[in-house]
Amino acid sequence: DHPVYLHHHKHPDFNSLQQQFPESYAWTQPDSDHHHHYSDNTTTNTVPVIDFKDPNASNLIGHACKTWGVFQLVNHGIPIKLFTDIQTACLALFSLPLHQKLKAARSPDGVAGYGRARISSFFPKLMWSECFTILDSPLHLFLQLWPQEYAKYCEIVKEYEAAMKKLAAKLMCLVLASLGISKEDIKWAGPRGEFNGACAALHLNSYPSCPDPDRAMGLAAHTDSTLLTILHQNNVSGLQVLKDGEGWVALPPLAGGLVINIGDLLHILSNGLYPSVLHRVRVNRSRQRFSVAYLYGPPTNVEISPNEKLVGPGRPSLFQSVTWNEYLGKKAKHFNKALSAVRVSS
Ligand code: SIN
Ligand code: FE2
Repeated sequence: DHPVYLHHHKHPDFNSLQQQFPESYAWTQPDSDHHHHYSDNTTTNTVPVIDFKDPNASNLIGHACKTWGVFQLVNHGIPIKLFTDIQTACLALFSLPLHQKLKAARSPDGVAGYGRARISSFFPKLMWSECFTILDSPLHLFLQLWPQEYAKYCEIVKEYEAAMKKLAAKLMCLVLASLGISKEDIKWAGPRGEFNGACAALHLNSYPSCPDPDRAMGLAAHTDSTLLTILHQNNVSGLQVLKDGEGWVALPPLAGGLVINIGDLLHILSNGLYPSVLHRVRVNRSRQRFSVAYLYGPPTNVEISPNEKLVGPGRPSLFQSVTWNEYLGKKAKHFNKALSAVRVSS
């Protein structure tokens, strides 16, 4: 079982940390060059960029999912204005004084609200980031933060969530099609592949500039527990994915582009064909980074298991069936080995 570190109740005030770098945030010793087992950007290989309007998009997506578990999507039809609006909301939110942000603090076992990265409790060191989690409507939380202007920010978030929900359903259809699975094979997809019952969470992330970026970690390496995740990043880099055997590969922001990554539940549904990708975020000395992650999963009562079209003679089912909540429970106990915990023993 995984140790749980109970520092998530202490909230960071990055304004007061700009001049000093506490050891509790130091992930490496000064001057050690062997960061986290793999060095940065040792490869010239880059994450695939896929044009959503390409007639061959489904095949390209399939290939990217199989070989990387992540790709960048362009030409997806979401107006740039929505990204600049959500960035404005991020800037307004994270610029609030700490005591104000704490009015919307996540409760100790709650999900929604302001605090450290959700995965903090699985790591002994602190991460150089803040996160605001929104489930469905931000109304209740935003009312506490901006009594005068909550309505404007609520509208932006709702519009963003609606756009992501539509895009996620389209992506699900293409990703499944690339596996030879049709929407008729997934009961909860609905007749037109709307995936209406899907559950989702929105993470607004801020990575403040950092006085000692080489020793800090914005977000520690993890896979997402989702079916898939759709990520917007502002024009500051920091996101990296692990390419097997080749080390960490940077995913530079692409104006108007979105990062799509496979999560653990799609890893299970695809019977291991589409791996959930390990990723992390590094920080820098001078620029604040924002990202907005749309974490997309199945309805709460739906069991996810390897699709029967991907199981047969010579291709045994590799995973037990689990609901999203059951899977999150496994992950809380076996953080980096949750997928192994649901593997069928042979
Ligand atoms: C995440 O992995 O949840 C966020 C990644 C990012 O900030 O780029
Ligand atoms: Fe993630």
